[in-house]
Amino acid sequence: MDKFIIEGPAPLQGSIPISGSKNAALPLMAAAILGDSPSSISLVPKLKDIYTFNNVIRVTGTAVDFNEDENRLTIDPSNLGFPEAPYDLVRKMRASFYMLGALMGRTGDAKVSLPGGCAWGPRPVDLHLKGMEAMGAEITLEKGYVFGSFPGDSVPGGEYTLEPSSVGATVNLILAAVRRADKFVIHNAAKEPDVVLLCSMLTKMGANIEGAGTGTITIKKADALKGVEFSNDPDRIETGTFMIAAAMHPDSEITLTGCKPEDLGSFPKTLSKTGASVQINGSEIKVKAPDTIKPVSVTTKIYPGFPTDLQAQWATLMTQADGESTVTETIYFDRFSYVPELKRLGASISLEKNRATINGGKKLSGTSVMSTDLRASVSLVLAAMVANGQSEVLRIYHLDRGYEDLEQKLSGLGASVTRADD
Ligand code: UD1
Repeated sequence: MDKFIIEGPAPLQGSIPISGSKNAALPLMAAAILGDSPSSISLVPKLKDIYTFNNVIRVTGTAVDFNEDENRLTIDPSNLGFPEAPYDLVRKMRASFYMLGALMGRTGDAKVSLPGGCAWGPRPVDLHLKGMEAMGAEITLEKGYVFGSFPGDSVPGGEYTLEPSSVGATVNLILAAVRRADKFVIHNAAKEPDVVLLCSMLTKMGANIEGAGTGTITIKKADALKGVEFSNDPDRIETGTFMIAAAMHPDSEITLTGCKPEDLGSFPKTLSKTGASVQINGSEIKVKAPDTIKPVSVTTKIYPGFPTDLQAQWATLMTQADGESTVTETIYFDRFSYVPELKRLGASISLEKNRATINGGKKLSGTSVMSTDLRASVSLVLAAMVANGQSEVLRIYHLDRGYEDLEQKLSGLGASVTRADD
């Protein structure tokens, strides 16, 4: 198992490129399964979750070729003959559950393992299943597996209201509906850029989808979908993570290239409130740290509100702020496993229910800390980079799931981050 050894504190200076988005790429990969010919997707990051999903897709008989030099995936579903996603793979990555919609859309039938819980507490898929039933699918559960099937080639469809709004359920319902439902309407659909991008790719393939990016998405059946060439989007969470990293040390100033600033929702404005300078110029974002970080409280919300995937990093930034702030989590109430680890580095944080109160301005000092999930891990790296002395961040396999070339990018900005065998 690898770990990072980090020497702090060091300012970040220079320019780095943003990688393709992991969370956006996964629905695109699932969409490619619906095509009658191969699709090619560019700007796909080389990340563990992408390799895992490649293997999930291959189980079905679909050919997947990952040109790593070009970050380009080619997915050819012509020989798909086994519409299943086994537990051994699904348990490694919850988004494998997108295979339910993709396989039902493609073949009319699917057998997909239930994903189970995760480090953030229970993460149900009830909305995915109820939405499929509202569409006219038959869903049964047996021995940890979901069996889904459409009676006949198509169903009349219907409508379903997601409560709460869910990215995963919106994606799964779109995938299932595009080739099978005469008309299906999703109310309170997720408005996240990942959903909009999925709809763009499917529309290019020949799907009939209206309302992407709004709360009401209407899908009308397309008889055939063709494979396409399509580009993934840059990773908005990686972008936000580096923007936060740049705000943490008073001498930091970095430029992020290849970004899609319009996908960041309210985040750049929120970061500016700390006193950081955020300049957006086309696809470039320049962030300069403030001399003193002002405390800014945030509450996670669905897009375009403050993303839950940036709250651990934000709490870490607030440990260096001049005063008290809170981080309130409304999407995943238990997503605070990083708090005891930040405390080990010297942060002053108290936790009550779904709210962390951070008493900023405490000097952090290096020590060993343990990663628990993807975004928690990166927040420990951010903290270690401003802590005095050496830190070890253990179990960084979580980071390898979601941050492409993290140590190379941070080292390129002047941080001292090295990977070692634990
Ligand atoms: C996706 C992202 C994840 C991000 C999350 C919220 C991917 C691979 N993952 O996860 O990084 O943190 O969006 O932005 O893109 N819910 C139900 N029943 C369901 C489905 C969801 O109650 O059937 C609830 C969840 O418990 C949660 C809320 O809906 O409280 C939103 O979850 P959802 O948007 O589905 O998250 P994911 O798609 O799993």
